[in-house]
Amino acid sequence: MPNLRSLHRIIFVAAFLILVASSFRLQSHSAVNVSPSVATTPEERGLYNLTHNPYGMMLMTKQMLEKLPMVWESEWKSRVDSNDPDSIRQLAFERYGFNEATWDNRGGPMQMVVTDKGMMYQNCMLCHGGSVPGTGQGMIGMPNTELDMQTLYDDLTKLTRYKPPFDLTFAVSRGRTNAFVFSLELLRRRNEDLSARKAPLPMGDYKDSDLDPIPWWHLKKKTAMYVDAGTTGDFARPIMQFTMGEPSGEKIRSWENDFKDVLAYLKTIQPPKYPFAIDANLAAEGQQVFSKNCASCHGTYGAAGKYPNKVIPLEVIGTDDVRLKGLTKEFRAYFNKTWFAQNSSHAVEDPKGYVAPPLDGVWASGPYFHNGSVPTIYGVLTKEARPKYFRRIGGAKEFDQKNVGLKYETLDTPAPANLAPEARRRIVDTTLQGLGNQGHPFGFRLSEKEKWQVIEYLKTL
Ligand code: HEC
Ligand code: HEC
Repeated sequence: MPNLRSLHRIIFVAAFLILVASSFRLQSHSAVNVSPSVATTPEERGLYNLTHNPYGMMLMTKQMLEKLPMVWESEWKSRVDSNDPDSIRQLAFERYGFNEATWDNRGGPMQMVVTDKGMMYQNCMLCHGGSVPGTGQGMIGMPNTELDMQTLYDDLTKLTRYKPPFDLTFAVSRGRTNAFVFSLELLRRRNEDLSARKAPLPMGDYKDSDLDPIPWWHLKKKTAMYVDAGTTGDFARPIMQFTMGEPSGEKIRSWENDFKDVLAYLKTIQPPKYPFAIDANLAAEGQQVFSKNCASCHGTYGAAGKYPNKVIPLEVIGTDDVRLKGLTKEFRAYFNKTWFAQNSSHAVEDPKGYVAPPLDGVWASGPYFHNGSVPTIYGVLTKEARPKYFRRIGGAKEFDQKNVGLKYETLDTPAPANLAPEARRRIVDTTLQGLGNQGHPFGFRLSEKEKWQVIEYLKTL
């Protein structure tokens, strides 16, 4: 027979879960914007908005974070140290890929806005906030290469028994998300003015694909957003796609000025500087190699640098095609009819390839290619150095100074079938849909010497 204390606990937990489940539905309506008191320029207001305003989905409460170990595998549960009050929080950060906020966030991670009532809202830094490799310093606009969104949502579903309204693959591998399919699934449930519609619109035969978030410091150079340069014109409304967790279309539209400021802030973000020593002579030699072999696509750097915004046809670039072909014409065409495209924003309906990205701060943005399928820059330049199956060693702070990029171990075989899903997602299997590591042969013809020269040069960008 359970004693009184454990009975109390059961009742408390049950009541708590009911409360949380109902707040999933209620809170998104009652979220209020706090107005910034010190931010005065658009850029400052934009940063304030990103870090303080709840847009979209309430994910959890601070108390829920403490309860999450109830649904963890036993290996994770056993790591909770009951003598250390901070132990659960630290383990949760490690498991889901959160890091410390760079502002006073009431104890919440950078990936969530915490309201004064302790409600935690998923924010843009869920995917676009991480730590600088090598130093571990938190940074807004740094791709979150540690996020495990699938485990986060699966754990929350187990804890609250509240299922997200539609079945989605959030991610197949850690550090990547099926981000464009979220946009598609959210948009097909909206009318053109973003009001909710009951029956989802057909969106053709779209395909899931894991994507590596783009560093925000690229944006100021771009005439078109996304890896396929698929959205042109004014970016303010298109970057609001992830606010569609909010049910009211009217409310989303009312946030437009907030996001004009967010856009102004995004354009101020600078790439992080390489934190270790650079061999200046080797880098200068590398600049010559780069001018000859790479600059026609990736542009030139320094004070007079020019970025050409060049889209390379799929037949030439040859990287994984699922992101390009799997995002359907139906979605792109419908996007152009909606509110998102009514202020001179425009989705390109028939994109031909992938854009050659700016390489500023590229030392810090591994893993490489739009799907993060190659862990190091040496691998970008060398076919034989692209592992078929690999697993990251350590977290976001670990950095391979030689090959430039992620520290990893190569595995001989794919993940065994009996591996727990969380551990499985740490293994990147480049034979899976959307994760192919082929293409971009432009470095293969360089000599070893030239490769190390060009890698040294890239550290200076
Ligand atoms: C679930 C993860 C996720 C969230 C949340 C998210 N993004 Fe992104 N974002 C991505 C991915 C992945 C890409 C690259 C997509 C592609 O091009 O295929 C991207 C691309 C972008 C780009 C394009 C950058 C460029 O240089 O082309 C901008 C700008 C951007 N996101 C802003 C935002 C803003 C603002 C928010 C919050 C309202 C947000 N994102 C929320 C994952 C996310
Ligand atoms: C013909 C155009 C072209 C040339 C030449 C070219 N690249 Fe690229 N590069 C691209 C494109 C397009 C991508 C994006 C591919 C993708 O994400 O699928 C890319 C991606 C990359 C990336 C990964 C960037 C990231 O953040 O994921 C690196 C690093 C890179 N290139 C380095 C080089 C170097 C070094 C050279 C010269 C040896 C070079 N490239 C030559 C077009 C080119």
